[in-house]
Amino acid sequence: MSVLIKGGRIVTAADDYVGDIFIEDERVTLIGESLDMQADKVIDASGKYVIPGAIDPHTHMEMPFGGTVSCDDFTSGTVSAAFGGTTSHVDFCLQEPGQSLPDALATWHEKIERAKPVIDVGFHLAVTDLEEGGTLEDLRKAPDEGVTSYKLFMAYKGAIMVDDETLFKTMQVAAETGALVMVHAENGDAIDVLVKQALAEGKTEPKWHAATRPPITEGEATNRAIQLARIAGSPLYVVHVSCKEAIDPIAQARTNDWHAWGETCTQYLFIDETALDQPNFEGAKYVYTPPPRPKENQEHLWHALATDVLSVVSTDHCPFNWDGQKTLGKDDFSKIPNGGPGIENRLHMLHHFGVRQGRLSMNRFVELVSTNPAKFFGMYPRKGTIAVGSDADIVVFDPEKRVKISAETHHSNIDYNLFEGTEVSGAPEVVLVRGQVIVEGDRLVGKPGAGKFVKRARFGEQLPGASGQRPLNVG
Ligand code: URP
Ligand code: ZN
Ligand code: ZN
Repeated sequence: MSVLIKGGRIVTAADDYVGDIFIEDERVTLIGESLDMQADKVIDASGKYVIPGAIDPHTHMEMPFGGTVSCDDFTSGTVSAAFGGTTSHVDFCLQEPGQSLPDALATWHEKIERAKPVIDVGFHLAVTDLEEGGTLEDLRKAPDEGVTSYKLFMAYKGAIMVDDETLFKTMQVAAETGALVMVHAENGDAIDVLVKQALAEGKTEPKWHAATRPPITEGEATNRAIQLARIAGSPLYVVHVSCKEAIDPIAQARTNDWHAWGETCTQYLFIDETALDQPNFEGAKYVYTPPPRPKENQEHLWHALATDVLSVVSTDHCPFNWDGQKTLGKDDFSKIPNGGPGIENRLHMLHHFGVRQGRLSMNRFVELVSTNPAKFFGMYPRKGTIAVGSDADIVVFDPEKRVKISAETHHSNIDYNLFEGTEVSGAPEVVLVRGQVIVEGDRLVGKPGAGKFVKRARFGEQLPGASGQRPLNVG
């Protein structure tokens, strides 16, 4: 099968030019001006951007959490992703208490066998216990399976939180194996005390979710993780940075060339703490962690993205229906399952409010949603760019297409959308995964199973693909 994408404005993290792309089977084989090639399918991309497929390195499909299970499986979640221009994602394989790490990975592989994805999928290994089920030996072996990142939660006490000993031992293993350590950075002990005190005082509404997790609890844990990673000699990636208190220690690390980086998520750029005050328990839709912050943090986050202090925008897609799942916490905010949707709207929101409104260049936009995730998570340069030899994961993006974001039209199973009613200009028109058209206009063309498991390279190494491009030049 061959595809010719003609006359589009090809934008990568580094380049911006008009050209044609020729794809044979799964890979890009030729890029040039006015290519005269016969192809099985020709896509006219004139007037459109042609960008590398976006990579979402932070998702939670079908994840047991908070007494329920996130409501997208790998089929519905990846269909939603594809309509938003995301062609690969890396999901958190969560070790159940007492479960061995190989069993945890087997469980996640079974999930993608049962509910087959339409885009490519990788796994991070979320380590919750190294005493009962998890062993350091098994942790060492995970990168051989293409699982080259370990995730630890410094919050959610009594559920999946780890102590500093487990965190530090994992960092030491990562220093040996070349894996990247990811942390959810919040001081879970302090938060646990604040939550119990609030409940004892009868404070049960959703807004207390934010009030009991103040920004400094995120800042403290971010700094602690950075310093522990320095001692262990492991690279560190801080997920879902939401506030200035957490940006500051990452900025310090970046200045000092310590190997610590951070991501934020779309929702933190647009939704602030007042969303939790919505009446009739609607505020529960915004119960995700870290919580929506005071509005002034949004400018700090945009600035950190523009100045390379933060390196990635992910979604933390962790959908729970409002009706029947969020309502588990109707009388107690601590029982509201933590998480929100977003995998479909990252490019819509960042392009419209970031690129069109002058906060980000088109190159930086591509870097934040595709190239840097590929570099951090061992997929570059096979993914995250458009180059001869790269996987033909490509989005033809129409910068003028008008979209009104809504739960009525999104493709996730969830019954609400965090950005309901927002009108944007700019949306994917055609989405290809390894040369296969998955989405065309409003139609799903790809079938479940089109997406494959990606065995990722270790941090700083590269997956075979386009040559001559350094993997570790992360922003
Ligand atoms: O609220 C969130 N973010 N839920 C998913 C788990 C996590 O902390 O990333
Ligand atoms: Zn988290
Ligand atoms: Zn998450």
